[in-house]
Amino acid sequence: MLKISNLQARTTKEKQSILKGIDLSVKSGEIHAIMGPNGSGKSTLCKTLMGHPRYEVTGGSAKFNGEDLLKISPDKRAKLGIFLGFQNPVEVPGVTLGSFLRISKNTRTKESTNPVKFFKEVETVAKNLKIKPSFLDHSLNEGSSGGEKKRAEILQMSILKPKLIILDEIDSGLDIDALKTVAKEINRFFKENSPAIILVTHYQRILNHISPHFVHIMSEGRIIKSGGVKLAEKLEKEGYKNFIK
Ligand SMILES: Nc1ncnc2c1ncn2[C@@H]1O[C@H](COP(=O)(O)OP(=O)(O)OP(=O)(O)O)[C@@H](O)[C@H]1O
Ligand SMILES: [Mg+2]
Repeated sequence: MLKISNLQARTTKEKQSILKGIDLSVKSGEIHAIMGPNGSGKSTLCKTLMGHPRYEVTGGSAKFNGEDLLKISPDKRAKLGIFLGFQNPVEVPGVTLGSFLRISKNTRTKESTNPVKFFKEVETVAKNLKIKPSFLDHSLNEGSSGGEKKRAEILQMSILKPKLIILDEIDSGLDIDALKTVAKEINRFFKENSPAIILVTHYQRILNHISPHFVHIMSEGRIIKSGGVKLAEKLEKEGYKNFIK
């Protein structure tokens, strides 16, 4: 589904090179965890895949179902079924979570979904995520706690039904129970829809709930090691010292 070859990117303004040749292939029905020290370029990879204007691609390629992803605008990438759950979700005052979900769902599916059916689905997923119904009438993320924002990201994921899901530190800011709740919803969605998932995380803990098929370690803009779950366990025990020179 996603094939990234030798992808290089830098910041648009300062021309600071961040991604220095990323190779990664992700199929539907696969979960790939990406780990790596602070500043290694994980979020930049996520945002570059989504077409964030702060980053420009200077080399390599990224294909989504054979299409050149890098030539497609961010909104079209979303319409194709690519979803990014942000490390720091933005606050959007004046747009309620409920109307944001409805508008983005209608845009994504290019049709007007039956409002009764739609809100029933939203209600069910919100309940799974322990999001209070009143939250749907609040401005998107405005004044929300870190954990509430992360839960709202997963609500969007479940409603938009993307094919490629990129979750940037979805576990940060979640309390122990919320981590389980969010992991359960991600697992439910994965089982029912078999998307491709890229899960950026610092900690083994979320991987106890969501089993990745592959684990990659990123350092200084490159994937320096790939393996299975055992790699994450080794990292948790030893830290990065044995992997990074
Ligand atoms: N827009 C930007 N302008 C300037 N520097 C940037 C920008 N975006 C990223 N960087 C720099 O690029 C490097 C990689 O940043 P990135 O956010 O991708 O790291 P990360 O691996 O996600 O780290 P963390 O684990 O802390 O989230 C960092 O040194 C960061 O300061
Ligand atoms: Mg990051």
